[in-house]
Amino acid sequence: MSVPYCFSSASSSFSASSSSFSTLSIFMLLILSSSAFSSAKASNITRPRRQLSVDYYAKSCPQLEQLVSSVTSQQFKEAPVSSPATIRLFFHDCFVEGCDASILITSKPGSKNLVEKDAVDNKDLREEGFESIRKAKALVETKCPGVVSCADILAIAARDYVHLAGGPYYQVTKGRWDGKISMASRVSSNIPKANFTVEQLLKLFNSKGLSLEDLVVLSGAHTLGFAHCQNFLSRLYDFRGSKLPDPAIDPKLLKALRMYCPHSGGNSDIVAPFDVTTPFSFDHAYYGNLEGKLGLLASDQALFLDTRTRPLVQSLAKDKQKFFQAFGVAMGKMGSIGAKRGIKHGEKRKDCSTHI
Ligand code: HEM
Repeated sequence: MSVPYCFSSASSSFSASSSSFSTLSIFMLLILSSSAFSSAKASNITRPRRQLSVDYYAKSCPQLEQLVSSVTSQQFKEAPVSSPATIRLFFHDCFVEGCDASILITSKPGSKNLVEKDAVDNKDLREEGFESIRKAKALVETKCPGVVSCADILAIAARDYVHLAGGPYYQVTKGRWDGKISMASRVSSNIPKANFTVEQLLKLFNSKGLSLEDLVVLSGAHTLGFAHCQNFLSRLYDFRGSKLPDPAIDPKLLKALRMYCPHSGGNSDIVAPFDVTTPFSFDHAYYGNLEGKLGLLASDQALFLDTRTRPLVQSLAKDKQKFFQAFGVAMGKMGSIGAKRGIKHGEKRKDCSTHI
């Protein structure tokens, strides 16, 4: 895959659980200010799941998936971060009000009503994700005007980006309508925090109809992408109020992260890769990293520390095909959270950022 760094050839020589010095030196190369690697940079999911189907647009827009794919493959070439950006965007959409593209709505100029996108937990969603959906929707509207929801385009684009980064190609069910509600105040309680325990993660995932297995498998999306220092800073200096670093971080990783993320006064744009071994490949290295104490967030490492989730982490670390198969299934489950059908519950926006 072409990435704007001198990284991809070197990375292939690292094993998933390696914590060698050379891994860390590559890791340091990969710590980048977030502006450096691309041109640009729900209290409420209790509604019943509605039936979605793979062939929903078979008659009304048979070329839909090709249209979306022409945009995602171009975007991926120009800005590979579009991949993690869009996968995360889909997750944040589904967990708040269901998978209804409510995350794409922008506030009206001068309006005091803040939308999901304005919420603190969404402030680091990358523009490349929104851009991908905007472009895909514009193209789809030229061929199938007024037919395809933004929510379905987001689900398809997320799948495309999983595949473009080397992950599985799974079928996407469709038939979601776009939601009419987007409120910043509904975000915080529905998006997991980086310091969540497995207990807290399970509570939230279960409330969305997702299981322990779904939690572990979907967290594997952290095989791609980056996190800002603030999301793991307390692990480096004062873990859970101990004034000490988290004992579950590999010492060399700890040292490297501390160099780039000082206790105070650091650059708030600095990010570190989730997967220190292969940050641009969708693979199962995430799980091997957890076994090697190379998880980035406390919530990632917790999946290995907790005896309920550890066996699955170990099994996915060993078996890439098992992870790929399970990931497609779990994305299908996540993708049907709170799906809306029909004009009574939803709309089909022409411009994904604006209600009809
Ligand atoms: C299990 C609980 C989860 C927690 C606590 C969590 C938390 C986070 C945090 C704090 C970031 C870094 C944001 C930043 O600093 O810019 C992040 C990034 C990311 N998350 Fe999660 N996340 C979770 C689950 C998921 C799930 C289920 C998915 C998708 C299926 C996902 C996909 C991603 C991706 C791809 C990124 C990288 C984004 C980028 O580089 O632009 N996460 N997550």
